[in-house]
Amino acid sequence: MSTPYRLKTWDEYVAAHRRSIDDPEAFWDDVATNYSWRKPWTSVLEWDFVKPEVKWFGGGQLNITENCLDRHLATRGDKTAIIWEANDIDHPSKHITYRELHAQVCRMANVLKKHGVKKGDRVCLYMPMVPSLAISVLACARIGAIHSVVFGGFSANSLVDRINDSQCSVVITSDGIRRGAKNIPAKTVVDEALPSCPTIGCVLVSKCTDDAVPMQAGRDHWIEDELKAVDAICPAEPMDSEDPLFILYTSGSTGKPKGVVHTCGGYMVYAGYSFANVFQCEENDVFWCTADIGWITGHSYIIYGPLLNGATSLMFAGIPTYPDATRFWQVIEKHKVNQFYTAPTAIRSLMAAGHDLPSRFAMPSLKLLGTVGEPINEEAWHWYHEQVGKKRCAVVDTWWQTETGGIMLSGLGDITPMKPAHAGLPLPGIRTILVDQQGNELHGEAEGYLCIDFPWPSVIRTTWGDHERCRLNYFAQYPGRYFTGDGAKRDADGFFRIIGRVDDVINVSGHRIGTAEVENAIDEHPDVVESAVVGYPHDIKGQGIYAFVICDHVRTDKDALRKEVIATVERIIGKIARPDKIQFVSGLPKTRSGKIMRRILRKVAEGEMNALGDTSTLLDPGVVEEIKAGKGMIA
Ligand code: PRX
Repeated sequence: MSTPYRLKTWDEYVAAHRRSIDDPEAFWDDVATNYSWRKPWTSVLEWDFVKPEVKWFGGGQLNITENCLDRHLATRGDKTAIIWEANDIDHPSKHITYRELHAQVCRMANVLKKHGVKKGDRVCLYMPMVPSLAISVLACARIGAIHSVVFGGFSANSLVDRINDSQCSVVITSDGIRRGAKNIPAKTVVDEALPSCPTIGCVLVSKCTDDAVPMQAGRDHWIEDELKAVDAICPAEPMDSEDPLFILYTSGSTGKPKGVVHTCGGYMVYAGYSFANVFQCEENDVFWCTADIGWITGHSYIIYGPLLNGATSLMFAGIPTYPDATRFWQVIEKHKVNQFYTAPTAIRSLMAAGHDLPSRFAMPSLKLLGTVGEPINEEAWHWYHEQVGKKRCAVVDTWWQTETGGIMLSGLGDITPMKPAHAGLPLPGIRTILVDQQGNELHGEAEGYLCIDFPWPSVIRTTWGDHERCRLNYFAQYPGRYFTGDGAKRDADGFFRIIGRVDDVINVSGHRIGTAEVENAIDEHPDVVESAVVGYPHDIKGQGIYAFVICDHVRTDKDALRKEVIATVERIIGKIARPDKIQFVSGLPKTRSGKIMRRILRKVAEGEMNALGDTSTLLDPGVVEEIKAGKGMIA
């Protein structure tokens, strides 16, 4: 697309990168001028990574939906903004033009207003991948309400935590969610959550499945009925650059998930810029990101990034293996997808389902393939490049995080060189560095902790309601730098390869799960005294969840106990956090000061029994022998 900030050649990349380092403010000033602002900014950047406090485009005012929608009406009004592909293959797909999307967003914004939602209020969205989810997200942004989307796989309990943490006043949900052959009773989950959520006064329900659901008079309203009674015009609320746009909860190494806050101006600038450069879409291309909007990838690269660029974004309600493992390839052919963006877990599971299945599909439209969320192994990378991309598509491995708002390390279309399984180079404007444990910067070829040394427009601003947590999590370890929590290697060409998390966060199928969260959930089982959770390598999911569990009395029905423990985790967090392996143990390896030595548990989980290292400082080394012997192991 002909956005002026889109780089088109390697030389342009090099020059832009140089300029972003020599004069970052001038660089970002230029990028930001490509958007429409109600009021220009007076200062490009003010920052302090110690507090931390970062302000981009201070004094400026904008509304992101004017940039996603209104701005395109004159030239792209009849162009498709969203193609929606249903879960069921025989269900007709939908094409929504920019003009239609604009009108629907305005109507939904008016529905929210009618129910008293104002600028700054928080709105929780718990919905399937249907157009009304994207419309609701944009409707919140239209009136300056802060959206907090919760992935449909989370339990009622997780929903309660998220709603209460940010004190949402409204929930938008649907009667049900169909994903593959499964039904998730979304409204029932909301009903289960709400008695514990005193701030919610209104539930807006979209009809998606026709499942019969009870509606509580006065509180619950059908969206489709509400939409008929409102106007299709809703002026956009002018927002200060640093006003929050959304909250998205993500897991950390300690405590409950934290609400990452992104702001209107900086997030907009970076979502649009990174989309344009990484994916290199042309005007009539169809872009497909398979993520769920419940995650940051869906926020930035299904909704905001593509729409800011006037692109056509495909939204898919199903899963890669339903009705069979060729669904992705069928959708690519059906909608002539040009750029396809998915997770390594999906690639590995489709590869396992039939190495040559994609060869039945020519997929001539494909130009670029992307991956996100977890490291991609070389075998999967080559399969993706050869079988799916027929060796003629650029492959970009994009590394980033909920907290970064947009892609930080990646190839840019076919203009930067590809290296299998490497996330590659930083985008211009991004200063990724490696440091050793003490925080000394490492130069040249090196392996270390991945940090970012200078602000970028969509850097996390705070964690909702707890700024100190934001400081401690990201800015305290290496003062003056943003610490990612990842380990990485850099080769002689400056290409980064991500190794994985170096904290107590595990990455299961590209989803971040805090080990402490899973432990807390397991400990809720009445028979459990203590547990310790670690990740282990998993062929498909990247990492699996391995739980060591101590119970207060010996139960002979271990299999039943295992099922109960899993059910407890599903109830408290959701299915995505269910342990893959459980080992019942009589003790955990602890130091004399009572700290669990996770290093040992990780090695056991990885099956490296002979590489446990020094166990002499343990309180009871005998525990390790029992664990190593695999007693109480239930896969
Ligand atoms: O460990 C990194 C991994 O996912 C983490 C961020 O997770 P989340 O906030 O849920 O966002 C995921 C989607 C942006 C990172 O700290 N990760 C993300 N992308 C990659 C990756 N690991 C390796 N390669 C990637 N391309």
